[in-house]
Amino acid sequence: MRHLRVPSAETQHWLELCRTQNWLQKGAGVLSLEGGLKGIPLSETAPPESDECWSNNSIFSAQGLTKGPEHWSEHLDQKLLQDIGEELPNSYEIQGDILIVKLEQQTRQYGNQIAEAMLKQLPSVRLVCADNGVIGEFRVRDLEPLASRNEDISTITQIKENGVLISTDPAKVYFSARLSKEREDNLSVAKKLRKQLSRPLRICDPYAGVGPSLASLLTEDNLVSECYAGDLNPASFELLKGNIEHFISKSPNILNELEIKNIDARKWKDELGNEHKIDYLLVNLPHHSIEHLPELLPLLSTEHSTVIRGWAIIDRESLALQEGNITSMIELAGGNVEYIRCSEVKGFSSSKIFMRFESWQTFS
Ligand SMILES: C[S@@+](CC[C@H](N)C(=O)[O-])C[C@H]1O[C@@H](n2cnc3c(N)ncnc32)[C@H](O)[C@@H]1O
Repeated sequence: MRHLRVPSAETQHWLELCRTQNWLQKGAGVLSLEGGLKGIPLSETAPPESDECWSNNSIFSAQGLTKGPEHWSEHLDQKLLQDIGEELPNSYEIQGDILIVKLEQQTRQYGNQIAEAMLKQLPSVRLVCADNGVIGEFRVRDLEPLASRNEDISTITQIKENGVLISTDPAKVYFSARLSKEREDNLSVAKKLRKQLSRPLRICDPYAGVGPSLASLLTEDNLVSECYAGDLNPASFELLKGNIEHFISKSPNILNELEIKNIDARKWKDELGNEHKIDYLLVNLPHHSIEHLPELLPLLSTEHSTVIRGWAIIDRESLALQEGNITSMIELAGGNVEYIRCSEVKGFSSSKIFMRFESWQTFS
């Protein structure tokens, strides 16, 4: 491989020039030479030694110091890279051993080559899928398998979060690894409530998905005495049952009560015979959380503090109004709000945000 011999102090200058001109050999490192000189690896397209651009620095041939590709796209051939041009996907998401990538319309024809390049670069990935958008009542992703490391194109996979394995199927159910911080906070708030009540909690996660929030709550020592969890999506429900069984097997505690149902969250109050028994309620249906809230409030226990943690997508300008809005709902249901906080977790679109709300209240 050809290398440009340059004084050590000028290395950055020549590296920059070669990089911008596409003359740098990808995957090869800079050589350290005798006499404080450096050897910059040149690509085949770099001009010959006689070219004025090199300012009389010499070019020599040496075995390259290969580092191996640093980016999956380095496994694509140059012609394909040029054809894809600006539309090269610059991000992807990994769930367990599945990589999910959005491809622009004009890049879809290169999907297989892109997927093969990703498999070469990322040894922990088994299956690469194109994300063709959100579909159906349960807003799950329309995934198209592009390439697999083995013959296995199953979209079922396992994710490890805080040391606990969670099974999911990104083609059939919702799961967001990005919200793991929210789930950590769910645990701290639950511990605070347990301290206040001086006993383990009766919890309800009626939009549980595959149960990531329950993973930390149910594996915590002596935190939960009764658990009511469900999801309307039958595929989530099936995975949820298996996951909860797994979480419980990791915990030394015995639950007094466990119910897992494939029902609309708003039906839980009837399921529980209007018993007002829940201490800790999670409300995670961001497009409809606020609208569903009045039908969930009858679940909450009376005579002592209870906690709701929920997430909602709202208009950015309405954030300041949400605390008043939720307080009114709780008061209308006969509750007294002790504490409420609505905060932006992240942006959702130019006009909307993803908000968390947390309220502590009592019902008499
Ligand atoms: C945003 S996801 C949250 C899932 C889970 N809590 C998590 O954090 O990954 C909302 C979940 O609610 C479920 N769902 C949608 N409508 C529902 C309803 N009316 N009642 C119960 N679950 C519902 C969806 O299938 C989905 O799994």
